[in-house]
Amino acid sequence: MLITLDDAVTHLTKGDIVALPSETVYGLAGLALNVEAVQKIFTIKERPATNPLIVHTSSLEKAENLCEINNLAKKAAETFWPGPLSLVLPKKDVVPDIVTAGNNTVAIRIPKHPVFLEILKKLGKPLAAPSANPSNRTSPTKAKHIKELFGKASPPTVDGGQAEVGLESTVLDLSGSKPTILRPGMITRAELANCLGIDVELLSTTKSSKPCMQEKELSAPSPGMHQVHYAPKTPMKLYNSLGEFRDAQNFGAGDAIIVSEEKIALELRGIGFPECTCLSVDGCPYTIAQNLYATLIELDAHKTDRMHLIFSGENKGVSRAILDRLQRAAKA
Ligand code: TXA
Ligand code: MG
Repeated sequence: MLITLDDAVTHLTKGDIVALPSETVYGLAGLALNVEAVQKIFTIKERPATNPLIVHTSSLEKAENLCEINNLAKKAAETFWPGPLSLVLPKKDVVPDIVTAGNNTVAIRIPKHPVFLEILKKLGKPLAAPSANPSNRTSPTKAKHIKELFGKASPPTVDGGQAEVGLESTVLDLSGSKPTILRPGMITRAELANCLGIDVELLSTTKSSKPCMQEKELSAPSPGMHQVHYAPKTPMKLYNSLGEFRDAQNFGAGDAIIVSEEKIALELRGIGFPECTCLSVDGCPYTIAQNLYATLIELDAHKTDRMHLIFSGENKGVSRAILDRLQRAAKA
C-alpha cells in the first residue's frame, strides 16, 4: 500500500514500520529508540538478531545524542552528510542494545533523500532503517520493489521515486584506531582518505581464498557482510569479460544475459547472442549502480532460469562497491 509522507509520520509515531525512500536504497524504518518497533523490523526482514541496524537522524547535533562524535567523524560528517555514508561510532546508552546487536558501537547516517529527511524532521526522533528487503535478498531501489520482495507482508510504503545512488551506503568504522571501510559504497576509500587526511583501510570482504574463514572473521566487525547477500532468487553467474562468458559455454535457453555496457552487447551479438540487458551505455559506474538492483529484481519476476552478468569494471573506486555486491549475489 502506498502512503503519504504524513501517513508515514503517523504510523512511525505509533511504533509501526514503514518503507521509506532514501538516496541509496529503500529502507524499512521504525523508531530507533523504541525496542518494540525495532523488534518488528527484525521480524519482518527475518534478520538475525546479531546483525545491527543503521540509525538515521537529521542533523549532526541530533547524532551527538546517540553516539560519541570524534574529530574524524566530524570531518566526515561535515563533508558527506547528508549522504550515502554510515559512520560506526561508540554508542550512547540511549540507543537500545537490540539496534546494535549488543555492540558498544552504533552506525549513524543522515540520509539525503528529501522525503526521508522531512520525515525525520517532522518526527524529531531517529529512525532505524535497514534496506527494505527480506534478509540477504536484493535491496529495493523503487517503491514497487517492496511489493515484489515482500508480497502480502509488504509494509506501507512512501514512493519517493527511483533511488539515485542504487547501492547501500558506505559503512566506515571510526570507533577503532584506524578508519576502516566495512562496506564499500558510492563514497570511496580515496574520497574518505582525502577528507580525513589519513589512510583508510578497506576490509577485504570477498577476495579470500577461504570464504568460510572470512565469514567468521567478518562476524566481528560488520556482521551484515556475509558472503551471500544481495542475491536475486534466480541463480547468477558473474564474468569479468566477454571472453570469460564465451569460454564457460554455459548458456541455457531459459537464461538471461546482463552486461555492464553497450560495447559488450554489440560484441555478444557478433558471437550469436542477440538479446541482453545493458546496465549503462558507456560503463559509467554511477549509472550501473543506479540500474543494477532494479534489473535483478525485474528479471527475477520473469522466471528466468539463470542470469549471466558480464561486468567489465575494475575492482577500484565506485566499481569496487558494485563488484562487492555482484560477487556476493553470485555466491547464492
Ligand atoms: O544505504 C543504507 O545504508 C541503507 C539505507 C536504508 O540507509 N541501509 C542499509 O542497512 O543498507 P542494512 O541494515 O541493510 O545494512 C547495514 C550494514 C550491515 O552490514 C550491518 O552489519 C552494518 O551496516 N552495521 C550496522 N551497525 C553496525 C555496527 N555497530 N558495527 C558494524 N557494522 C554495523
Ligand atoms: Mg541490507
